[in-house]
Amino acid sequence: TGESILLGLESSCDDTAAAVVQGVPGKTRILSSVVFGQAELHAAFGGVVPEIAARAHAEKLDTCVRMALEQSGKRLSDLSAIAVTSGPGLIGGVLSGVMCAKGLAAGAGLPLIGVNHLAGHALTPRLTDGAAFPYLMLLVSGGHCQFLIVRGPGEYRRLGGTIDDAPGEAFDKTARLLALPQPGGPSVESEARHGDPERFRFPRPLLDRPGCDFSFSGLKTALLRTRDGVMTDNRLKRRDRADLCAGFQAAVAEVLAEKTRRAMTIYMNDKPAAPLLAVAGGVAANRTIRAALLEVASEFDAAFLAPPLALCTDNAAMIAYAGLERFAAGEADDMTLAARPRWPL
Ligand code: KG4
Ligand code: ZN
Repeated sequence: TGESILLGLESSCDDTAAAVVQGVPGKTRILSSVVFGQAELHAAFGGVVPEIAARAHAEKLDTCVRMALEQSGKRLSDLSAIAVTSGPGLIGGVLSGVMCAKGLAAGAGLPLIGVNHLAGHALTPRLTDGAAFPYLMLLVSGGHCQFLIVRGPGEYRRLGGTIDDAPGEAFDKTARLLALPQPGGPSVESEARHGDPERFRFPRPLLDRPGCDFSFSGLKTALLRTRDGVMTDNRLKRRDRADLCAGFQAAVAEVLAEKTRRAMTIYMNDKPAAPLLAVAGGVAANRTIRAALLEVASEFDAAFLAPPLALCTDNAAMIAYAGLERFAAGEADDMTLAARPRWPL
């Protein structure tokens, strides 16, 4: 049938993950997907600590792989190849994954396939919905923010991205400034639900400049200043906090929507037969942002696709799938596969 079965490993940030997928490009099933988050290990430090992350990945990878194989009903000997995130990301974590994959590949005599983490996110619409090339991908998470025209499994055109913080980072920092729990996205979103998005007018960074680049770091300064303006005796009223969240969220959504409009215009020059705007990354969970993007897609008569959240955020099914696309194209790496902290698509 030409089907292949791949095990994928992911350990480039703060999730240790393993998954097994089976199929052909554009028609693949997820047999298992195991994710161990490290949030509680890093919680006390206000961010991911690379040393702690690397150690935790090294500890968890074996268990993760065992569980993914067990839940898939497959054994190592059933696999066609092993895929692993070989960058970009925190080097200690990426190294742990690459070492683990090399060991498994060498032990089982299987081909080894290095996968770019961003390609994993970018190809997710193919895994979930068999999306046809070319489509426009907006990747928005705590670590990434960019537009990609995805023209083939290894063919990407980057249209722009953030010049400072990622939007998820901005949500997280906003939550911190307003004493809301982490991760900031969901808590800011739920506060914003009973807030007035018009009361505080936050800047729309870079909207006045051409192109598809973003800047989110200025928003938190504006938020801080506005917060201090409404605080009395160092206390923030519930009403004010909700309005600050709503105003912030509205600014992010408007900027994302307007830049997406520009990116769509460029993408449509490709004359896609089935125009598609897809999103991935944790921020894609935000309802206000989703609604704004859906609106932009419909302006262009394009479909809008947001994969299930578990596949929007970091996972290994997307890595196994990106590996499957490479494998199907006859590509593979060997034991010289290197871990790359930086690796633009
Ligand atoms: O993709 P992800 O799980 O991890 C990486 O950054 O790779 O994304 C996590 C980010 C966090 O910054 C989190 O605050 C944000 O996604 N996020 C949200 C929402 N849910 C998660 N941002 C806005 N609204 C949400 N509902
Ligand atoms: Zn990611």
